[in-house]
Amino acid sequence: MFAKHLGGHSLMTNANHVRGSAWIQFPRVLCARWSFENIVLMGDAAATAHFSIGSGTKLALESAIALANYLHSEPTLPKAFEKYEEERRLEVLRLQSAARNSMEWFEEIERYFHLDPVQFNYTLLTRSQRISHENLRLRDPEWLEGAERWFQTQAGVQESAPVRRPMFAPYKLRDMELKNRIVVSPMAQYKAVDGNPTDWHLVHYGERAKGGAGLVYTEMTCVSPEGRITPGCPGLYTPEQEAAWGRIVDFIHSESDAKVCMQIGHSGAKGSTQLGWETMDAPLKDGNWPLLSASDVAWSSENQAPKAMTRDDMDMVRDQFVKSAEMTERAGFDMIEIHMAHGYLLSSFITPLTNKRGDEYGGSLENRMRYPLEVYRAVREVWPQNKPISVRISANDWVGEEGVTPEEAVEIARMLKEAGVDICDVSAGQTSKLGKPVYGRMFQTPFADRIRNEAHMATMAVGNIYEPDHVNSILMAGRADLVCLARPHLANPYWTLHAAAALGDHDAKWPDPYQPGRDQMWRLAERADTMLGKV
Ligand SMILES: Cc1cc2nc3c(=O)[nH]c(=O)nc-3n(C[C@H](O)[C@H](O)[C@H](O)COP(=O)(O)OP(=O)(O)OC[C@H]3O[C@@H](n4cnc5c(N)ncnc54)[C@H](O)[C@@H]3O)c2cc1C
Ligand SMILES: Cc1cc2nc3c(=O)[nH]c(=O)nc-3n(C[C@H](O)[C@H](O)[C@H](O)COP(=O)(O)O)c2cc1C
Repeated sequence: MFAKHLGGHSLMTNANHVRGSAWIQFPRVLCARWSFENIVLMGDAAATAHFSIGSGTKLALESAIALANYLHSEPTLPKAFEKYEEERRLEVLRLQSAARNSMEWFEEIERYFHLDPVQFNYTLLTRSQRISHENLRLRDPEWLEGAERWFQTQAGVQESAPVRRPMFAPYKLRDMELKNRIVVSPMAQYKAVDGNPTDWHLVHYGERAKGGAGLVYTEMTCVSPEGRITPGCPGLYTPEQEAAWGRIVDFIHSESDAKVCMQIGHSGAKGSTQLGWETMDAPLKDGNWPLLSASDVAWSSENQAPKAMTRDDMDMVRDQFVKSAEMTERAGFDMIEIHMAHGYLLSSFITPLTNKRGDEYGGSLENRMRYPLEVYRAVREVWPQNKPISVRISANDWVGEEGVTPEEAVEIARMLKEAGVDICDVSAGQTSKLGKPVYGRMFQTPFADRIRNEAHMATMAVGNIYEPDHVNSILMAGRADLVCLARPHLANPYWTLHAAAALGDHDAKWPDPYQPGRDQMWRLAERADTMLGKV
């Protein structure tokens, strides 16, 4: 673009500046209090917001107006300062948070260079996360519709097809074709009997498959009785269990067009614990069984110390994973996920907080990944070539440099990708009691984003994602390929169909017997839109 002006010289970016970049050395000012005696702070002295959202002057002026008003209305200076701070602090914090998102986008801009210009533009426009998908539609409906068309066309939909929200674009992994991007995230039910799924599971998973999500995950299903988390966890290690899962899969395939993924795992040091609604992660009151883990690090001072696995133990557990994978295939599942997150057995190898081994399975990341990758490769051997495998990881131990960091998670994903894993299911935490997660809306999505755009691997985002708007902006911005919702699907198995109705999307397929319910919902949604003046 600038070639003709540069006379053969290359462009100098801000980062090449001799004194370092002015843009990536932004002092973020946060003050514990904004006044002292007769002195009061405002503007950049009270709080700075990165100039990439262009709001510093606005903030300063709004604060000045508020301060002036309170100086007139309040009887004393301290009262006026107190009211001023009370009114402005939250507003300023909100803007600072948006400014930080925006600043990070600019600082990491190289991560997004490979994106298509349409998607790149979308990430630029939504970088502060103050502007959501539907909010962007209010600002520029034509541009957004063009972007949505681009999204679904690159997902394989014909150019002439009606434009739908990104969440309704299909997705293909190996030969598995998903009708949309919504995933029912794995969720333990604690209702199995001797590892056997029951009618509870048939109804539970059947309902979620009817509810419109493209992909339904089972809960963590354990590869051995000792590998169960609780006595209520299901397994895949007996023919009865295989048959019971087969019945569930058959129902889903015959009565819905959802695909179904089996999540297999081994509980490691977090095994032999109470049901989720009892005391989570606490040992059983009686009947505890011995535990295996990467090292003899107990989950907490209450939990028993696991045995550090010998090479024989490692062979045994790897073979259990393989047997479960074979059963998964015979039961008819479309996809399999290996659980390498949340502090369970394979996760205990990956995180240095629980892997204290001095052999070739401990120490460097390469060593810590050796056994999990061995298990993956053994499963891949027996799992059909046309069906995908995902791996769930904890992309952040939330303990800083001592544990797995989002940066290291990119390296983990690179290794998984190189080994042939089709998609990385990016969760975080639950690997150590020391972890201090920072919760918030879509709080784990930045890790999925980073892996997708730095390791160039397909990702699934999960964690406090609950509105269609969240899903659409994550997908459209290329932060993940699929979006998992867990708790929203406990509250509402029909989350996807309800979202479609609320957005006026009449192409989502409802089960035939439910059409009158669908029609009523469509009418009600239309009426609500008319009242809001949208139609
Ligand atoms: C590169 C850049 C781009 C920006 N782009 C935008 C944008 O597009 N939109 C937007 O809204 N905001 C933008 N901002 C932010 C905006 O400029 C600031 O937030 C705003 O100017 C803050 O106003 P202020 O009055 O608090 O501080 P300032 O404007 O910094 O005023 C402080 C004043 O105090 C003076 N001073 C300092 N020390 C002393 C002293 N000891 N004695 C006497 N005087 C002193 C300084 O010389 C200065 O004049 C940008 C900022 C930068 C750096
Ligand atoms: C009741 C419950 C059980 C869960 N069980 C599992 C599980 O078996 N395997 C797993 O990987 N994650 C499990 N999770 C984590 C969820 O899949 C998900 O990552 C987490 O709840 C964050 O998503 P959300 O904010 O949409 O709920 C469970 C979560 C809940 C609430």
